[in-house]
Formats: sequence, C-alpha cells, structure tokens
Amino acid sequence: MAEQRVKWVIGNWKMHGRLAENAALLQAVADGAAAMADAIRIGVCVPTPYLAQTQALLSGKSLAWGVQDISTYTHGAYTGEVAAEMACEFGATLAIVGHSERRAYHAESSELVASKARRALQAGLTPIVCIGETLEEREAGTTEAVVGAQLDAVLNLLSVEEAQRIVIAYEPVWAIGTGRSATAEQAQEVHAFLRARLVQKDASLACVALLYGGSVKPENAQVLFGQADIDGGLIGGASLKSEDFLAICEQAKVASHAH
Ligand code: 13P
Repeated sequence: MAEQRVKWVIGNWKMHGRLAENAALLQAVADGAAAMADAIRIGVCVPTPYLAQTQALLSGKSLAWGVQDISTYTHGAYTGEVAAEMACEFGATLAIVGHSERRAYHAESSELVASKARRALQAGLTPIVCIGETLEEREAGTTEAVVGAQLDAVLNLLSVEEAQRIVIAYEPVWAIGTGRSATAEQAQEVHAFLRARLVQKDASLACVALLYGGSVKPENAQVLFGQADIDGGLIGGASLKSEDFLAICEQAKVASHAH
C-alpha cells in the first residue's frame, strides 16, 4: 500500500498504578512525548478510577488516554460495569476491547467483543480490538483460523465506515507478559494475513492500524515496527516505566520516517 499509515504506541497499564506513581509516570511520558507527537500517535489506557487524574495531568498535552474495557450498555443495572460515555466524560478517546485477559478470565466471546467495539464507536471512542492465539492453537497450526474468526466477528457486526475507525492489536497470548515476544517475522506474517482479511471486506480497510502486542521492549521495538504491516505496538509491562515506554515511542518514530 503506497498510502502512509501513521505509527501508534499505546500503553496498557493493566491493573497497575497508584496516585503518586501515576503522577510521576504520566508527567514523564507527557514530557517525553511532546517532541514525538507530530510523527506518531501515543496513548495510555489506565485503570478506570484514575481517569480523572489522567485527564487533569494530560489535558492539553500531545497524548491520548483511555480505558481497558467498556460495557456493551449505555447505563442500567450492570453492577461493576463502566459505560463508554462515562469514560468520554473524562476525556478518554481510546478503549481496549477483547484483551486476552478478559477473554480468558471473564469469558468474553468474540461476539461480545464485537459489540463492545461497536459501543465504543457509537460513543466516539476508538476501540483497540485485541485478538490472538494461544500457544496450543499456534502449535496446532490454527493461528490464522483463530485470529481470522476473532476478526470476522468484529467485521461482521460493523459497517465499513465503522470498521475504518477501529484499531486492531494482534497479541499472541503466549507472548504476553512472558518476555517471549513473537519474532518480527512471525508477527509480520499474521499482520499480513489480517490486512488481507480486512481488504477482503473492503479495500478501504487497508488503512486500519494493526498493532503488535506481547513483550514489546526497547530492544525489540525497532525490528517489529520496521515490518511492512506492523503499525506500532500495544505495550504492557514496559508502559509502566517512562524510559522504556519513551524508548519504544522513539523506535516507532524512527520506523515511521524509514517508510
Ligand atoms: P506485555 O507487554 O507485558 O507482554 O503485555 C502485552 C499486553 O497484553 C498489552 O495489552
């Protein structure tokens, strides 16, 4: 594709953080991101109770923020759930949906994830839809069947116009938090498959951002982000250290200039 796609680096803090450490981290990331914001998109997805703090510290800065999950509903008797509109009230623009930890520990189906993606879009949030295979599925040779079905569930529910506004994160479950990243070749292979699947639905979906997630570190970001179909990263552990997160952002900036 001749069209230039912008690189993204999004932090997923997961269930980490406390007020004092968040303040230091957000400040340092915002300071470092300022010089890169023209070249790449940078964001952080924080635990929901810290949205107000994040909004207060990041407003007017060149960095987006968001949540790690949303409800499929706008309001109602859904104890513990958080509506997309609630996140929007705190300036959130991003919502991770379908993270493998939610699929595994909260039994989220691909159909539920698809409806969360649509709900996010309806509220004006950019959904970052996570997909990925387990080690058993990879070893059984079913990676493409698994991620293809996870993507199809979303594409079947959304209109083409809606699908143009999503972000996909390919996160092989076996690479998350294990220190064992997919190789750049393994990741590129799946990303190319996903890009083709998007284009099969509609040619305009060639521009959907495809992020890689799973043990991205300053040391492997350059080679991952240098792949033709990898548009950046969704970063777990390394997003909790400002130097590591900013070093990864720097690699995305370098890769975006190289294309
Ligand atoms: P790690 O970067 O800690 O492997 O986590 C990846 C992830 O799950 C991001 O959503």
